[in-house]
Amino acid sequence: MAKIEGFRLRNFGALRDVTLGRLWNQGTKALTPLTVVIGKNGAGKTTLFDSFGFLADCLKEGVEQACDNRGGFERVRSQGEKGPIEFEVYYRESDNSRPITYEVAFDIDRGGRPFVKSERLRQRRKGKPTGHPFSFLILEDGKGVAWNGEHEGVVEDGKLTLLDFLNQLSEPSETNERVKVELSDNRKLGIATLGALKEHPRISAFRQFIEGWYLSYFTPDAARSLPKAGSQKHLNVHGDNIGNVVQFMQRDSQAP
Ligand SMILES: Nc1ncnc2c1ncn2[C@@H]1O[C@H](COP(=O)(O)OP(=O)(O)OP(=O)(O)O)[C@@H](O)[C@H]1O
Ligand SMILES: [Mg+2]
Repeated sequence: MAKIEGFRLRNFGALRDVTLGRLWNQGTKALTPLTVVIGKNGAGKTTLFDSFGFLADCLKEGVEQACDNRGGFERVRSQGEKGPIEFEVYYRESDNSRPITYEVAFDIDRGGRPFVKSERLRQRRKGKPTGHPFSFLILEDGKGVAWNGEHEGVVEDGKLTLLDFLNQLSEPSETNERVKVELSDNRKLGIATLGALKEHPRISAFRQFIEGWYLSYFTPDAARSLPKAGSQKHLNVHGDNIGNVVQFMQRDSQAP
């Protein structure tokens, strides 16, 4: 099962720069499968969890709608900040697969409309648990490069700009594993578009991972009513079907 080992948020509501777990370049401990967040009122707990909802909304509906769902970009971005909203997710498809880092930044254009400023996917090389991971999707303002299949990608050492890279990629040198990308809509995530193509299995897997995120705001009061009979796999948004979920877990664990 895919697992998030860590993530970082910048300029998202009350959370101006928060890191949980570990990232590719930070050696802190990975998040465990059960993580409990405790904090005083207004500390940003709901904001923290909503960051996953925000990303899932961006994937399904585009960044403009994701912001509108929350009162607009300026309500979502940390007050007084002018920089982009940024997320970094560090995850693994399974226990023995190489970790992947997804970075995305959102900003507003001169007309005040939000857009996807940049996106990047990186993965460590086989047998190399440390060192720089290889980027296999680099997008800035909807333009960039992607690597097909399971091909490694490129190491960015900070000297190579995307523009340099695109210039190197003149048409004749373009290979089967490396393709130029130009998105027609910079309000949609590149992983939404490219993740729909079978040439990009790693991007598809990541897209499916985000699509599968499921957020439930459990409120004890809601769970006090008598639930309908029958087992259910997921908690609903209020958690009032908790009895049904427990039933599902019981049945699932007894299944042969
Ligand atoms: N754009 C923003 N920039 C900075 N702070 C913001 C922004 N939007 C909301 N806030 C602040 O974030 C806080 C809300 O955070 P959140 O709802 O995540 O807290 P919480 O830990 O879930 O609190 P509670 O325990 O009450 O549920 C409020 O204090 C609010 O003023
Ligand atoms: Mg809250």
